[in-house]
Amino acid sequence: MTSEAIVNIGVLATMDDGEGPLGLRRDAAVVIEDGRVAWIGASADAPAADSSYDAAGAAMIPGFVDSHTHAVFGGDRSAEFDARMSGAPYTAGGIRSTVAATRGASTEELAARTRHLLDEALRQGTTTAEIKSGYGLDLDTERRLLEVAARFTEETTFLGAHVVAPEMADRRGDYVDLVAGDMLAAAAPLARWIDVFCEEGAFDVEETRRILAAGRDAGLGLRLHANQLTMSGAAALGVEMGAASIDHCTFLSDEDVDALAASDTVATFVPGAEFSTRQPYPRIERLRDAGATWALASDCNPGSSFTTSMPFCIALAVRDMGMTPSEAIRAATRGGAQALRRNDVGRVAVGARADLALLDAPDPVHLAYRPGVPLVDRVWRDGVATTSWEPRAS
Ligand code: NIG
Ligand code: FE
Repeated sequence: MTSEAIVNIGVLATMDDGEGPLGLRRDAAVVIEDGRVAWIGASADAPAADSSYDAAGAAMIPGFVDSHTHAVFGGDRSAEFDARMSGAPYTAGGIRSTVAATRGASTEELAARTRHLLDEALRQGTTTAEIKSGYGLDLDTERRLLEVAARFTEETTFLGAHVVAPEMADRRGDYVDLVAGDMLAAAAPLARWIDVFCEEGAFDVEETRRILAAGRDAGLGLRLHANQLTMSGAAALGVEMGAASIDHCTFLSDEDVDALAASDTVATFVPGAEFSTRQPYPRIERLRDAGATWALASDCNPGSSFTTSMPFCIALAVRDMGMTPSEAIRAATRGGAQALRRNDVGRVAVGARADLALLDAPDPVHLAYRPGVPLVDRVWRDGVATTSWEPRAS
């Protein structure tokens, strides 16, 4: 059993017990033992530990919980981004070019790419990441993508219903059968969640209902890409079916907001997608007033949001969605954990995983106040200070 005391933390944002919405504790220390938080208190009272790290008055937050990524893919779509920034619209169709590149990549090439993205995310403070399949769209490639995802995270999501596979474009009923049948059977042992892109150009509400129900019967939890491009009815469906999270929520009706507030479904916002598709940003006021729970995630993918940076998403949410800095930082940590129905991450509490990000800043507000500046100084994941993403030991 080894222990480390992190002392002289100027402001510790626990997302748990403490002052204000971030659960702040000042002049604090945290003791880590065997990958978990064993003690939190005043720095002056910190118990002896095997080693000690002096935070020198800086701010510390829990590692970010990025509850929505598509971090296994091949290829590059910078030309599509370039065209979009010159006026072309974003459509679901671009996914097909990534599908072609992904199918053509070896499993080891895909895994190397995913590792690179996760290392990049970790250095920006992310310690938990969900990863979806969805760029394979045939049984073998979807399984390969989930095998890669499962090397890196326990939060794996089967997204065979991203769009209809190109070779089955004129047989969409057969593709829905495949996703809800053999593909799901192959994916289920490797996935914790099932997700559907319920949108014009992807899957309609009835197809989505059927695929999600099949996933639930196979033991998977439900998540949903909902109301990204249109007011599609997906958000209401997700709440009705008890999804852990409905994601994007760029367009929500007042009824959707009320339904969310009355449920334990989390609304996950991905402002990197609005940024990269030049869509309007959703606003937070109605959710705040209604008392709904929300999260922030990167949506890291090569088409609509090629960022791994949760600090960037926080800055966007504050500047363009109307979140306060505290709301955005909480949404990127505790909110992400709630969207994944996890209690062991996203907060600094005795017994929780020792996933911590020390900032090169005196206050967590700097994450929004100093956009684009690499403020994450040191990251502990499972109690170990690290700059590379390893699978969790347990
Ligand atoms: O979350 N909305 C669907 N899927 C991705 C985009 C995928 C792509 O364009 O490659 C998203 O934005
Ligand atoms: Fe997405």
